[in-house]
Amino acid sequence: MKIAQIKAKIISNKRLKRNYWHLEFESSIIANNAQPGQFVNIKVSDGLGPLLRRPISIHGVKGSTVKLIYEVLGKGTQALSARKPKEFLDIIGPLGNGFGYKQLAKAGKAKNILIAGGMGVAPLVFLAEKIKPVKPLVLIGAKTKNQILCTPEFKSLGCTLKLATDDGSAGFKGRVTDLLKIVLEQAKPSRLFSCGPHPMLKTIARIAHENKINAQLSLEEHMACGIGACLGCVVSTKAGYKRVCKDGPVFSSEELIW
Ligand SMILES: Cc1cc2nc3c(=O)[nH]c(=O)nc-3n(C[C@H](O)[C@H](O)[C@H](O)COP(=O)(O)OP(=O)(O)OC[C@H]3O[C@@H](n4cnc5c(N)ncnc54)[C@H](O)[C@@H]3O)c2cc1C
Ligand code: FES
Repeated sequence: MKIAQIKAKIISNKRLKRNYWHLEFESSIIANNAQPGQFVNIKVSDGLGPLLRRPISIHGVKGSTVKLIYEVLGKGTQALSARKPKEFLDIIGPLGNGFGYKQLAKAGKAKNILIAGGMGVAPLVFLAEKIKPVKPLVLIGAKTKNQILCTPEFKSLGCTLKLATDDGSAGFKGRVTDLLKIVLEQAKPSRLFSCGPHPMLKTIARIAHENKINAQLSLEEHMACGIGACLGCVVSTKAGYKRVCKDGPVFSSEELIW
């Protein structure tokens, strides 16, 4: 797998809504090599700080353009949102191991569920694009309606969508994991793919285990180097500690120790 450190030209960097942003940059090397679930590590500012790069999932590629979506949370993402088109960003990528989906695409079964919590939609749109022929069911959970992102993208890929919000402002009222349990009572899929907050992934791992379903989970640990050198992102697995940035971020639910 080719990993590059590049100065990538920003094509666009726009607010989607609230504190959610969409950024596109130019890089044929990253676009040609990216797989769903992989991420890029961005030096968000040309100045001294923030010192550490910020990891952001690859949301999609088109030609030599790479797409990201991000939520402005702290000073790193704040600095990223201030970057303008035609400026250059120092980016390393594509990094990590993404979702395993190739056999699935060949099998052509409509029996796969993608489950996104909040910003977890970012890599799952890219995955839905790659497995378009299998038309997965997509469950998206968020606190409230206007925190739900990417529904047009999933619909345009032919996915069936079900929403869950904590306040009931869209779709099922409650957690997306409770919606998943209801869906599983009706039909058992062959695979689950998920990205989102840690507690959500932990619950999905338990549900997958109880239902004997394979689940691939993309973890969002805090990172420092992003390339496997500092051990700042390790998680416990049945095979010992593993680095989320290098061995993940996607892991099989059965290998993780929560
Ligand atoms: C593999 C990977 C892929 C990611 N993909 C995306 C993405 O596509 N879009 C997106 O918006 N965000 C993504 N994130 C999370 C993103 O990296 C953090 O939100 C970002 O680094 C926060 O930087 P900040 O300086 O703005 O906030 P900080 O000031 O560093 O932190 C602000 C808040 O965000 C929390 N936070 C910081 N880093 C992380 C992290 N790595 N995971 C979870 N919470 C964190 C902090 O605990 C704090 O509460 C991803 C993280 C990883 C590890
Ligand atoms: S962030 Fe340094 S090893 Fe993962």
